[in-house]
Amino acid sequence: RKFTVAIDGPAASGKSTVASMLASRLGFMYLDSGSIYRCATLLAIQNNMKDFEEAKTVEKLVEKILGTKIDMVTEKGDGEGLRRTRVFMDGVDVSSELRGNEINKLVSLVAKFGEVRDAVFVKQRELSKGSEVGGLVMDGRDIGTRVFPDAEVKIFMEAKATCRALRRYNEMTTKGMDVDKTTNKQITFDQILDEIIRRDHQDQTRKHSPLKKASDAIPIDTSDMSIQQVVTTIEQIVKS
Ligand code: C5P
Repeated sequence: RKFTVAIDGPAASGKSTVASMLASRLGFMYLDSGSIYRCATLLAIQNNMKDFEEAKTVEKLVEKILGTKIDMVTEKGDGEGLRRTRVFMDGVDVSSELRGNEINKLVSLVAKFGEVRDAVFVKQRELSKGSEVGGLVMDGRDIGTRVFPDAEVKIFMEAKATCRALRRYNEMTTKGMDVDKTTNKQITFDQILDEIIRRDHQDQTRKHSPLKKASDAIPIDTSDMSIQQVVTTIEQIVKS
């Protein structure tokens, strides 16, 4: 098994950026588990699945997840080590679709089903084996508690909701993704903040809440830290 760094934390805590840069510095493979939940959500949308209270719907979705080939390709890094990860479903690049507002709204709902989580778990394990690289960085909500409970290093990243909303807002505006496709209106900072608070709430209060700090995870509050500082802090933990 690969040397594994598990990074968990709430929505927009900076996990993906940090995890990807860390992987680049260490020469490890990077896997973003949120993307797999986003793929599951895209599959539900593509297949017109709406009524998730209906057991058949969840069953059908699980079949779709297991039957779809998901690939993640992280581009070779530039000097800074920040690399873009592209996600493919059956060979089709769905990376930008996965980040859209429709999926942001629906993903926590889809991710709350134990059956969906089990199917994603299978994908997580599959993907983690798919490279010769010696180490793995995976980020998500339950990586240190469930997916890799025996990870060598576990980090729990936190940041104030307003900080996280600002980061996501900046990300969306710089990528030109700040327009709601359904209403054609500009997305505001307040909307993003509301969305994050709502998603935190959903991720924390549902029955099988995935967001838990593993007892042996190291907490890092990133509110007042730069990305570089966070990456360096974790790198030192890995190397110590
Ligand atoms: O990290 P990201 O914002 O892409 O995750 C999207 C959603 O997927 C989260 O809000 C959460 O509901 C779900 N998720 C999860 N367990 C993970 C990763 C993501 O439930 N390990």
